[in-house]
Amino acid sequence: MSLYEHLTSNGPSGFGYGTTAEQVTAGLSLAGKTILVTGCNSGLGLETVRVLALRGARVACAARTVEKAKAAGDSVAGETVHFACELSDPASVRACVAAVRAQGLRLDAIIANAGIMALPKLESAHGYELQFFTNHIGHFLLVTGLLDQLTDAGRVVMLSSTAHRNAPKEGIQFDNLDGRKGYSSWANYGQAKLANLLFAKDLSRRFAGTKRTANAVHPGVIRTNLGRHMNPIANVAFGLLGPLALKSVPQGAATQVYVATHPTLSTVTGEYFADCNVAKPRADANDTALAARLWKVSEEIAAAV
Ligand SMILES: NC(=O)c1ccc[n+]([C@@H]2O[C@H](COP(=O)([O-])OP(=O)(O)OC[C@H]3O[C@@H](n4cnc5c(N)ncnc54)[C@H](OP(=O)(O)O)[C@@H]3O)[C@@H](O)[C@H]2O)c1
Repeated sequence: MSLYEHLTSNGPSGFGYGTTAEQVTAGLSLAGKTILVTGCNSGLGLETVRVLALRGARVACAARTVEKAKAAGDSVAGETVHFACELSDPASVRACVAAVRAQGLRLDAIIANAGIMALPKLESAHGYELQFFTNHIGHFLLVTGLLDQLTDAGRVVMLSSTAHRNAPKEGIQFDNLDGRKGYSSWANYGQAKLANLLFAKDLSRRFAGTKRTANAVHPGVIRTNLGRHMNPIANVAFGLLGPLALKSVPQGAATQVYVATHPTLSTVTGEYFADCNVAKPRADANDTALAARLWKVSEEIAAAV
C-alpha cells in the first residue's frame, strides 16, 4: 500500500488514519456510561474527554492536580467529575483510587492516556527511571487499584506507541529499571511504552472468562505538549511538518475512543490497535512470559513504594 493510500483509506473496521474521535463515535450514545481518562487536561486526553462527554458519557477526568482536572472538565460540554492523580507519586495515585471508590463510580472504561516522552536526562522517582515509573508503574497502581470499580464488561485502554519498537532488544531491562547502567531518552520511552503494551496483554489474560477487555493503542504521531522535552530544532521541524505529515489531535484521539467505546469491540481483547484497526506490535509484545514477569516485578515495586 502506498503512503497516500494508507493516509486516505480505511481498514477492515471501516475507519482509518484520517478518522476523528467524533467520526468513530458518530451515532453512538454513551449515556449512562462512566469513563475515566488520565492526562485529561492536554492533547489527546482533552479531546478524548470532549468527545466522550459530547456522546453523553460521564467522564472522570484525572490530572496531576484537581484544579487541572476541573479546568479540563469545565472546558467541555457534558458531565465530568474531577480527580487529582500525579502518576509519579504513589500516594496521589492511591488517593485517586480511594476517591473514585468513595464516590461509588462504576467505570465502563479506563483510558490510561497520560504520559511523558523522551526526557533528555535521566530522572527518577522512588528509585526508578521516570518514564517507566510515570507511564507504567503509575498506571499499574491506578488500574489494578480500580479493578473493583470496573463494570463486568469494562474496558481498559492503555496508551502505548509505535515507539515501543525502540525499547531495548531484551524488551524490559529488569536489571536497569533505575537507568543507572545506561539511559537513552528514546530507548527508555520505548521501554515504558512496551511496558504499557505488555500490561494490557497480561491484564487481558487475567480477564479471561469475563466480559472485560484490555487493549493497547498507538494513537498516531500528533503535535501535542508531549514534545516538550524534544530538542528545540526537532520541535521546530515537527511544527513545520505538522499540518502535512502528522495527525491532527481529533484524529489522534480516535483510536483510544474507538477501542474504549465501539460496540463491535465488546469481545476484542489483548490486541494492539493503530489507526482504529488491529495492528501488529513488535514480536516480544506478545511474549506472555515477559508480560507475566513485568506484572510480577510491577507488583513488587507497587508494594515497596
Ligand atoms: N502525541 C503523539 O504523537 C503520541 C504518539 C504515540 C503515543 N502517544 C501517547 O499518547 C498519550 C497522550 O499524549 P499527548 O500527545 O496527548 O501528550 P500531552 O499533550 O503532553 O498530554 C500528556 C498528558 O499526560 C499528563 N501527565 C504527564 N505526566 C504526568 C504525571 N506524572 N501524572 C499525571 N499526569 C501526567 C500531562 O499532564 P500535564 O499537562 O500536567 O503535564 C498531560 O495531561 C501519551 O501516553 C503518549 O505517550 C502520543
